[in-house]
Amino acid sequence: MIMMNKMFVSVTINLFIIINQIHISYAILDPNDFLALQSIKKSLQDMPGSTFFSSWDFTGDPCNFAGVFCSGERVISLNLGDPRAGAPGLSGRLDPAIGKLTQLAELTVVPGRIMGQLPATLSELKSLRFLAISRNFISGEIPATLNQLTELRTLDLSYNQLSGSIPWGVGSLTALTNVVLCHNHLNGSLPYFASQVLTRLDLKHNSLSGSIQPGSLPSSLQYLSLSWNQFEGPVEYVLPQLTRLNYLDLSLNRFTGPIPSCVFSFPITNLQLERNMFTGPVQPFNEVSIPTVDLSHNMLYGEVSALFSTVENLYLNNNRFTGAVPTSLMDRLMAGNVQLLYLQHNFLTGVPINPMAAIPLSTSLCLQYNCMVPPVQTPCPLEAGSQKTRPTSQCMQWKG
Ligand SMILES: *[C@@H]1O[C@H](CO)[C@@H](O)[C@H](O)[C@H]1NC(C)=O
Repeated sequence: MIMMNKMFVSVTINLFIIINQIHISYAILDPNDFLALQSIKKSLQDMPGSTFFSSWDFTGDPCNFAGVFCSGERVISLNLGDPRAGAPGLSGRLDPAIGKLTQLAELTVVPGRIMGQLPATLSELKSLRFLAISRNFISGEIPATLNQLTELRTLDLSYNQLSGSIPWGVGSLTALTNVVLCHNHLNGSLPYFASQVLTRLDLKHNSLSGSIQPGSLPSSLQYLSLSWNQFEGPVEYVLPQLTRLNYLDLSLNRFTGPIPSCVFSFPITNLQLERNMFTGPVQPFNEVSIPTVDLSHNMLYGEVSALFSTVENLYLNNNRFTGAVPTSLMDRLMAGNVQLLYLQHNFLTGVPINPMAAIPLSTSLCLQYNCMVPPVQTPCPLEAGSQKTRPTSQCMQWKG
């Protein structure tokens, strides 16, 4: 008798739980969100090896699907694809129905083979704060209507096939903290970025052009990469405004004018200004404590500053530096504190180094193609060529 009672109680509890679950799956999710998720799933497939959509069974509660997070009756976060490292991603397209998930605060897609354009309906996601669709094959332009996403903090569309220009309206979004659009085919000029909380701007590997207007980048910036574009014009008025930079890469552009002294005081670990058309003498304010400084392949001239003696890897090759290399720089090199010193392809006339001295084995030193016979023979990178010394005819004009 007692046993019967126990069983009865247990069955009732189980039934109660089942009824509750049925209640959850049919009543909780907003029907618009339910239909949107169905459309999104229809337009995407797991790539071979990915099982992301196996939990997307619409007879169950969509709020329990992989990558779907709800608050109350609405989807607030959608992370498409298995986020584990190395998992194959998704293929297909992003369905415009995504715009129906109007409470979405976060939308991410894992690396994969999603093609087609960004749906213009993304602009209906007025609560969106985090948008990251990186490393897929998204093409077409960045919708100008993204300027309606006034809550947007992170915009990461990197490693896709996007073309056209960066919409001016995207730059006007005032909540932006991270903008990562690197490795696309974007062209046109740099918009004015209005957000005073923008900390990261990564536009490397695009076809952006034009000059950087002073005031177009906020002083809140900490990370700035404009590398591998066709930017031009001076940076001497822009960079002094960016006092919080701890990463700066302007390499492989067509920037002109002098390198402002302030950049050598930034708390950067790798200063990359190589392969531009920077001119003028280079004059740090103080001893430079940046471990790696690359100023190679520019049109810099004047003497090499002794304040660079504290740099560990210093690339000054392929410029127009003249005079003798500072003694303190060579002393630090001989002490093993400078690991790399590239001075090849300049117009240097002296290097204070004892031809008998042993250069530390771990040190890379290249001196060739200057206006002197190198006092020591050291292995140089291949691109330095085989000529030890610059033709005398080229050296006369620099002696004045
Ligand atoms: C940018 O590229 C598009 C083609 O994708 C072209 O039609 C347009 O003229 C280009 N704009 C600039 C400013 O180069």
